[in-house]
Formats: sequence, C-alpha cells, structure tokens
Amino acid sequence: MKNRLLFLGPPGAGKGTQASILCEEFGFLHLSTGDLLREEVQAGSSLGKEAAEIMNKGELVSDQLVLSIVQKRLLNQHKGWLLDGFPRNLSQSKALKKFLDEINQPIQTVLLIEINDEILVERLLSRGREDDNEEVIRHRLQVYRDKTAPLIDHYGDLGILKIVQGDDEVKLVSSRIKSALV
Ligand code: AP5
Ligand code: MG
Repeated sequence: MKNRLLFLGPPGAGKGTQASILCEEFGFLHLSTGDLLREEVQAGSSLGKEAAEIMNKGELVSDQLVLSIVQKRLLNQHKGWLLDGFPRNLSQSKALKKFLDEINQPIQTVLLIEINDEILVERLLSRGREDDNEEVIRHRLQVYRDKTAPLIDHYGDLGILKIVQGDDEVKLVSSRIKSALV
C-alpha cells in the first residue's frame, strides 16, 4: 500500500469521507487544509479570522497560509500521510514538491475522485456547511476548474495519477480507492 498520498477532486467528491476511512484503517495522517482552516476559524485565531471571510466566498486562502499549516504537521512522525484539499493550485504544488524533496518524502500516488456536477451540488446542499449554499458551491466549482484542475495534467505527466469514479455509494468508492493504491 502506498503511504504518501494526495486526493484531488471537486468540492463534494468525497475526498474527506474517503480520506477518513483510509487513514483510520491504515494509520495515516489525514491532512485536510479545509478542516485545519475551519479549526482555526472555530478557535477565533488571527489566522482563522483572516481565512473565514475568504472561505465563505469560496475563494482560496493565501498559499503561504496553507503551506505553513501543512509543513509543520508533515514533519511529525507517522505511518504515512494523505493530503486532502492541498495542493489547490500549481504554485502550492511547486512549493510542496520543494518541501517534500527536502525531507526526502516524495508523493507516491495522486488519486483523482471524479463526480458529476449535479450530484456534488445535491450532496453539499444536504450537508449544509457554512460555505454550502448553491451560489458559493458553484463558485467553488469554478475555482476548482480554473486553479485546481490543471494539477490533473501536471500529476498525470509525472505518471503518478490514478482516477476513480466517486458517484457511487461510499463503500464501493472506498474499495475502488484501495484497489488503486496497492
Ligand atoms: P475544503 O474543506 O477542502 O472543501 P472543498 O474542496 O470544497 O470540498 P469538500 O470538503 O466540500 O468536499 P469533499 O470532497 O471533502 O467531500 P466530503 O467527503 O466532505 O475547502 C474549503 C475552503 O477552504 C476552500 O473553499 C478554501 O477557501 C479553503 N481552502 C482549503 N484548502 C485550501 C488550500 N489548499 N488553499 C487555499 N484555500 C484552501 O463529502 C461531501 C458530502 O457528501 C458529505 O456530506 C458526505 O457525507 C457526502 N458523501 C461523500 N461521499 C458520498 C457518497 N459516496 N455517496 C453519498 N454521499 C457522499
Ligand atoms: Mg473536504
């Protein structure tokens, strides 16, 4: 089983759901930049205050801010790690590569979870997180297409990309993911 992983996919694809299942089973560190930012918002830290407004609009927070919260956690001891929602654009992926080269822990597999737009909108509307209203969801989707989707070709060119369909029930998607990671 590969143990240095990255999950890519649009909002609502199931990255967080599937990452939790996999990390629970294999003891990997689950690093969701969205979850870490929401913790900062909850705590009312200065970082959280800076992030909240941007997140509620569905824009990306600054590269520097997310890099700082990811890097310190990757330095801890763990059985492996799974990055969920990071990197989100080419400049974050470049900065991540530089850092991972320095600690000699390159990414082994990038897993793209694909899903139909209408299914993801439906899923997110029924979840109802603060940024889950139709207008913001559509904007997050646009930001994904403009800024994050170029990472698909980037990692595809590096030969480390795997693709799974995320439209089906959680268990089925989960078993597809495990098969893709052996
Ligand atoms: P983030 O928290 O990463 O949100 P997102 O990308 O919009 O994606 P979601 O977390 O909504 O979807 P998911 O794919 O994890 O799906 P989930 O498993 O939850 O980012 C939020 C914001 O933070 C960004 O907009 C940005 O502002 C900021 N941010 C974060 N990272 C950043 C970065 N690196 N750089 C800059 N800014 C950053 O599932 C969704 C719902 O569907 C759930 O209710 C779930 O129960 C359900 N579900 C999941 N799988 C299934 C299934 N198979 N069948 C039915 N329902 C399912
Ligand atoms: Mg998520």
